[in-house]
Amino acid sequence: MRFAGKTILHTGTAGGLGAETALAFLREGARIIAIDKDSAKAAMLKEQAAAENLDGLSMHEIDLADIAALSETLDQAAAEIGGFDIVINNAAIYPFRAAHEFTLEDYRAVQAVNVDAGIICVQKALPHMREKNWGRIINMSSVTISGGWSNLAPYVQSKGALIGLTRAWAREFGQFGVTVNAIAPGAFPTEAEKIHPDPEGYSRFVLENQAIKRRGHPRDIANALMFLASDEASFITGQTLNVDGGWVMT
Ligand SMILES: NC(=O)c1ccc[n+]([C@@H]2O[C@H](COP(=O)([O-])OP(=O)(O)OC[C@H]3O[C@@H](n4cnc5c(N)ncnc54)[C@H](O)[C@@H]3O)[C@@H](O)[C@H]2O)c1
Repeated sequence: MRFAGKTILHTGTAGGLGAETALAFLREGARIIAIDKDSAKAAMLKEQAAAENLDGLSMHEIDLADIAALSETLDQAAAEIGGFDIVINNAAIYPFRAAHEFTLEDYRAVQAVNVDAGIICVQKALPHMREKNWGRIINMSSVTISGGWSNLAPYVQSKGALIGLTRAWAREFGQFGVTVNAIAPGAFPTEAEKIHPDPEGYSRFVLENQAIKRRGHPRDIANALMFLASDEASFITGQTLNVDGGWVMT
């Protein structure tokens, strides 16, 4: 039980990568405060956890764009359980159209979910982490920041912002025993991929670009998250780990 006694604040938990991540951490004894607004998917995840007799999942079905509701939920949860040891900023929205068709409001709406909510999560978790002199913050970025994708401008902007925050937070929180890293997933066949008009052609494109000739599985992300959240990763901070089958090599 590698994460027994640890509480994880996780956003976008009911999604393609989030659900697998949550189950993996639950199997290792973690308690998860999960935020996702999709009730149907949240119900499915709860069923999956129950089918495996996994305790410790606490789902909160709120909209991360509603900062007041998010703050209140996190304050309540922290008061009940004593705070969060690990934050995984995973939720994202990814509207898909030409850059010039996005309004400034569109950009702001994406930042609100993909970045601002994560800032609140970190602000709410930090006091407990400082007290414990131990914490892990992991931001989910994306392979799209490497520049190979069109029609995702606000999303790519938000993923770049998360890498900037990863570095800025890492610099300041290291003194409190808190590491901050980002994961940049490659292309995983989840809901996010359905935005592409030709799924089979897209899958071929992915495999051509990857050094490893199989599609990624959400487990690959869960494994990387578990490493960065572990004690073994205590000397790694401010980094972005590409988990993309060897697509981007930097
Ligand atoms: N799947 C991929 O190939 C891929 C590639 C690169 C990066 N990523 C990143 O990995 C993370 C997870 O991606 P995924 O594939 O699981 O996506 P997903 O769309 O399957 O899951 C995202 C989850 O976030 C939730 N969410 C979105 N907006 C919300 C809001 N306002 N309030 C509450 N919940 C909200 C959704 O309900 C959903 O369950 C994201 O940050 C994404 O950008 C994924």
